Amino acid sequence: MKTRITEMLGIRYPIIQGGMMWVGTADMAAAVSNAGGLGIITALTQPTPQDLLKEIERCRTLTDKPFGVKLTILLSIHPPPYEEYLDVVINSGVRILETAGNNPKAFISKAKEAGVTIIHKCVAIRHALSAERNGVDAVSIDGFECAGHPGEEDVPGLVLIPIAARQLKIPVIASGGIADGRGMAAALALGAEGINMGTRFCVTQEAPIHQNVKQALVDATERDTRLIFRTMRNTARVFKNAISEEVVALEQRPGGVQFEEIRPLVAGARGRTALASGEWNEGIITAGQCIGMINDIPSCETLISRMVAECREQLSKASAMATD
Ligand SMILES: Cc1cc2nc3c(=O)[nH]c(=O)nc-3n(C[C@H](O)[C@H](O)[C@H](O)COP(=O)(O)O)c2cc1C
Repeated sequence: MKTRITEMLGIRYPIIQGGMMWVGTADMAAAVSNAGGLGIITALTQPTPQDLLKEIERCRTLTDKPFGVKLTILLSIHPPPYEEYLDVVINSGVRILETAGNNPKAFISKAKEAGVTIIHKCVAIRHALSAERNGVDAVSIDGFECAGHPGEEDVPGLVLIPIAARQLKIPVIASGGIADGRGMAAALALGAEGINMGTRFCVTQEAPIHQNVKQALVDATERDTRLIFRTMRNTARVFKNAISEEVVALEQRPGGVQFEEIRPLVAGARGRTALASGEWNEGIITAGQCIGMINDIPSCETLISRMVAECREQLSKASAMATD
């Protein structure tokens, strides 16, 4: 397969594993890269910038293919040392950075000056245009279906992707709700030159997640996600479980809820433990609506080759239907 994305990133198939807190380790990233996609290590899953460097070095022992690093920049009272994480990426020789979050203009300039290729992920056309003006090389655009933070405007991929493809000069990567070759074919037909997946890669052999959580995602339907933090205008799409149901109920309570009250429920450490222990009702687990399409736990190699074959088949079927 050949698109501006495969050429830019030096990968065989235009399939990217998006940054994933607690999941984007060297093992995950290397498995995707070895299967012909682009694996991404999630910087902030590593407790310190030095640990990130070790994880990058570990990834190099697992694959000789290109891989990237994700840096999500969020405003917070006690922010992690973002700049030090970025310096590790630059100095380690990693050539691909995925950014997301609040206005990462300064980070983009610094990484660009160092010759790093930047994919910026966002959820709105105006943010994609501004990232393009700031010099990023490609934009990943997440539709409302996605796992994680879809924003507050609820625009699905079927609308976002073609608008982005029309308005941007740089290549667009479709993200959110893609879990099979049909979705991939649709994304390419909408004008994207690559796809980004999170949830689907969580349900693979190599994902560093307990088998019980993977099985719970396989058993789930497209109706089994919840939107938390809506009332705080910081919406996150997560797996429906005891904790997310409780958070939604508290938010819907007359008078609402203060973040302090739900903080213990939504603590990141709790989500991490749920993923590792398999006790999937014990913490917040990020997942997208495409769980309804996920029916097995393949290796990344099997998943990617199956998706590529199905994508080709769907595109040729559609093309045959469209002939005069
Ligand atoms: C377990 C998990 C953790 C995630 N963590 C992050 C993160 O830390 N930063 C980020 O920008 N996106 C994060 N995402 C979102 C993904 O990078 C990607 O945009 C999203 O999963 C695409 O939607 P999909 O799950 O429908 O494929 C996460 C997704 C999952 C499933």
